[in-house]
Amino acid sequence: MTPQAEILQGLLLPQASISPKYFYDAAGSALFEQITLLPEYYPTRVERQIMTTHASDIACRMGAGVTVIEPGAGNCEKARALCELIHPRLFVALDISEDFLHQAVAGLRAALPGVEVSAVVADLTRAITLPVDLPMAQRLVFYPGSSIGNFDPPQALALVTRLRGLLADDGALLIGVDLVKDMAVLHAAYDDAQGVTAAFNLNVLKHVNRVVGSDFDVTQWQHLAFFNPVASRIEMHLQASTATDVHWPGGGRSFAQGERIHTENSYKYQVADFVELLKRAGLSQTQVWTDPDNWFAVILAHP
Ligand code: AVJ
Repeated sequence: MTPQAEILQGLLLPQASISPKYFYDAAGSALFEQITLLPEYYPTRVERQIMTTHASDIACRMGAGVTVIEPGAGNCEKARALCELIHPRLFVALDISEDFLHQAVAGLRAALPGVEVSAVVADLTRAITLPVDLPMAQRLVFYPGSSIGNFDPPQALALVTRLRGLLADDGALLIGVDLVKDMAVLHAAYDDAQGVTAAFNLNVLKHVNRVVGSDFDVTQWQHLAFFNPVASRIEMHLQASTATDVHWPGGGRSFAQGERIHTENSYKYQVADFVELLKRAGLSQTQVWTDPDNWFAVILAHP
């Protein structure tokens, strides 16, 4: 399905939705980068702290000549820190945002002269195709930032199984997973005081306007974020502040006042449940590191 068809299909559902992968146009990727610097947005900071604290432990579990593969590499900042730590031979960045990716990879090449760096534009919700000449031995798939949280548990299992499929038996997955915690902490992280997350959420409408030729008026929509304890996830929505009509070539839709477009789920796990998911994906040997508050987990998983 083309991005246009996928977006229109979501907009026409009784409960309208837009996939969170459409957050990441150039403006959205830059806004996400700003989110990671917010005082309320703990995941990036806490994950970095765990990685730094256990750096030598993580490094010594991987041998020499590693090929690091990072799905959703974004600005490659985490990759840079990891590469400085484990000195891989190769680094392969996969991301959906082409312009942003090529810019980030150029920066990484300059910063890591000893590492061969390549970029592949990839949509993780589809099949992942790696360059055919990529070494099979000693692969480390790096999936930080709790990006896995965007997928519901069955999809997360399917994705981790696909990531496992990129590895030989000597490979490993290094994954960051956000954990269930105090609701106030979660709410603040997804509805920050400066409104950066709100701008990030609303920006998806501008991206959609460009992709499908629609006429969403961003000023008519409001950012909404809350924890759904039953599903154990943060949900982000855009809520229409007034009744509003949206048009696109060949169609359109009316939204009533208060009607919502669901834009993101961000699942929060218990460590034991995520370890079980890894086991079911064929990654049964796990080493878990967490921060003192147990807010976030970094897991190294081997087949
Ligand atoms: C990139 C999916 C990990 O869920 O925390 C941040 C995206 N959304 N603030 C997350 C996001 C709103 C982020 N992930």
